[in-house]
Amino acid sequence: MSIVIEADRLTKYYGSIQAVKNVSFKVFKGEIYALLGPNGAGKTTTIKMLSTLLKPTSGDAYILGYSIIRDSLNVRKVIGVVPQDLTADDELTGFYNVYIQARLYGYPHGIALERAMRALEIVGLADSANRRVSSYSGGMRRRLEIAMSLVHDPEVLLLDEPTLGLDVQTRRLMWNLIRDFKKQGISMILTTHYMEEAEALADRVAIIDYGEIKAEGSPDELKRKVKGDRVYIELYSEDDAQNLQLEISKLGVDVKLDSSIVIVTAPSASDILPHIVGILAGKKIKSINIVKPNLEEVFLDITGKRLREDSFDAFKYRVFTHKIR
Ligand SMILES: Nc1ncnc2c1ncn2[C@@H]1O[C@H](COP(=O)(O)OP(=O)(O)OP(=O)(O)O)[C@@H](O)[C@H]1O
Ligand SMILES: [Mg+2]
Repeated sequence: MSIVIEADRLTKYYGSIQAVKNVSFKVFKGEIYALLGPNGAGKTTTIKMLSTLLKPTSGDAYILGYSIIRDSLNVRKVIGVVPQDLTADDELTGFYNVYIQARLYGYPHGIALERAMRALEIVGLADSANRRVSSYSGGMRRRLEIAMSLVHDPEVLLLDEPTLGLDVQTRRLMWNLIRDFKKQGISMILTTHYMEEAEALADRVAIIDYGEIKAEGSPDELKRKVKGDRVYIELYSEDDAQNLQLEISKLGVDVKLDSSIVIVTAPSASDILPHIVGILAGKKIKSINIVKPNLEEVFLDITGKRLREDSFDAFKYRVFTHKIR
């Protein structure tokens, strides 16, 4: 299989903060490659370097053989970028935003018109093309950004959190759109902090935390790294959780603590549960959950923390700050 994107020890410092550390990976033709990681992991910084908006402090990357440092013009011709921060102009219509993008790529008026309309049709916005973006829903705005990234028929798409802040139903529509791009042979990198998204879409996933790739593989390969089922027991205080951890560890199983939650890993939850229930008798328990291996568990195993589905919604925050600016 041919390599479409190759990152070679990409590194970025912002002052003394090292946001991306020696990140190397390959993406093959037609693949969806996901960068899965929490807030601040370095996903956007990586995408910005790949899209030539940000110069790496060291390292390089090649897209269809073009260096992002030495050949940035050619890189820009072959990639489409859907940034995390929305770029469309609220005061203009959806159509006009996409049309301007086509003109920026150098297409003359007539061709730019055609390309803009086609891109809007692909993302299902043809009917709303002449409405102002300020009247669009969050999902429509995301689709508009995608239309803007498609006007020049890119072979590679870089999607930075394409479903951030969208409701479940709209997210699924977006997933179908991304799957259609894959069928057309477009190679993609998408970043996400939703593990179901990485699991649903990605051929391969890189787990990124503190600017480093901690693990890489297909969702199944990664899940095989988690040894067994997990039992989550939530208590009312951290002290109670600590005591419980001590008692359960005497069963000879792996027990971890995440504030007031005790996490037991065992080859089979049904075998260990009767013993745990014996220990729990008479104690006050907030909740108990049994979880089969999934990417969230892989993330916990590798980084020692959870990939929380945030209470802080970065997308809504950004739209808000955009509006008051
Ligand atoms: N312009 C900047 N100046 C200084 N530090 C920055 C800048 N942009 C990002 N950082 C820092 O670099 C690190 C990586 O940020 P980045 O935006 O790449 O993460 P991310 O994985 O995209 O996070 P999120 O899920 O919140 O979008 C963070 O510690 C962030 O605070
Ligand atoms: Mg980001």
